[in-house]
Amino acid sequence: MTEDYVPDVAPDNILDNLRTAVVCLDDSLRVTYLNTASEMLFGVSARHCQKEVFDRALPYLADHRSRLTHALTEGAAYTDRELQLVAGDGEALIVDCTVTPFTQRDGRAALLLEFLSLDRQLRISRDDQMRVQNLANREMIRGLAHEIKNPLGGLRGAAQLLEREIGDAALTEFTAVIIREADRLQNLVDDMLGPRRPPDKTPINIHEPLEHVRALITTELPADVRLIRDYDPSIPEIPADREQLIQIFFNLVGNAVTALGGSGDILLRTRTQRLFTIGGIQHRLVSRVDVIDNGPGIPKDLLPRIFHPMVSSRAEGSGMGLPIAQYLVHLHDGLIECESRPGQTVFSVFLPMEAAHG
Ligand SMILES: Nc1ncnc2c1ncn2[C@@H]1O[C@H](COP(=O)(O)OP(=O)(O)OP(=O)(O)O)[C@@H](O)[C@H]1O
Ligand SMILES: [Mg+2]
Repeated sequence: MTEDYVPDVAPDNILDNLRTAVVCLDDSLRVTYLNTASEMLFGVSARHCQKEVFDRALPYLADHRSRLTHALTEGAAYTDRELQLVAGDGEALIVDCTVTPFTQRDGRAALLLEFLSLDRQLRISRDDQMRVQNLANREMIRGLAHEIKNPLGGLRGAAQLLEREIGDAALTEFTAVIIREADRLQNLVDDMLGPRRPPDKTPINIHEPLEHVRALITTELPADVRLIRDYDPSIPEIPADREQLIQIFFNLVGNAVTALGGSGDILLRTRTQRLFTIGGIQHRLVSRVDVIDNGPGIPKDLLPRIFHPMVSSRAEGSGMGLPIAQYLVHLHDGLIECESRPGQTVFSVFLPMEAAHG
């Protein structure tokens, strides 16, 4: 390296592409810098944090004033592993955190804070396990569904023949039951088999299928349920199958409507998200669609199994809405996640901007 070496990449550019959240505080513990990963981790905007005292800008750090002050005045660096940071509203993050004092160009003391989110990493490995397990489950379910489909067709056909032969209204009532129940099973089996064709991906503005679903659902919305939009219109087009996206969002919004049981709010929110790992591949940019409702939440015992086939808390539910949505999201190399507590349930669909192979 020569003395007048100038890097090709601006330091800000490098810092904003780091997965580690980086925050700088000055000697009065005010925020002087915050990179993109910090914005994502703490859910804040760098512009709003600028010059703010750290605990107002980043409520997650509110309990750490004395340690930060000590690090600053004593010049003592420290690292906390698997530290739990809790914000005012009870939301928690798990991070590895390193605090390093340094001296600014003007000679004043400052702190460099680095956070590596473990939450997301723990979740990534869980996602991967889930994807593998889902694939295996799907194979088994498809096999089973095929086995049911043929005899079911035979059963229905025979009941129809019988119905024609007996002609006695009191008895055809029974054949009608057989036919109706066979049709119900047929629908279930079709759901279990999943889409018959691979996705037909064309560039799509994510808001188009979302708006389609909104229009469909609005017609049957109870009077006290509000469907609110918070779209980021700058999201670039993504390669996707329109029909399949409609199916995904329809299942999610439909569940939210059901969960609200007549009154409440559903928020459809779209965003882009940088540096997001799906199935071991780190994407520079993904689009994110959140379907949020303020209903009662998903029962705790159900939550870990929510994407499994035939898991339902409703007598008339087949429990196929979420596994189908998840399967279709996976066909788009995407990821679907759920977080739920009483009063707030969020289903998030992440879809990569670029096709995985090309
Ligand atoms: N937004 C939500 N709020 C509360 N519970 C939910 C929500 N979304 C899903 N659930 C729970 O997850 C279960 C499974 O959902 P899923 O869509 O897979 O099946 P279903 O809605 O019961 O039946 P189907 O969609 O096949 O008609 C639901 O029965 C419900 O208990
Ligand atoms: Mg459903």
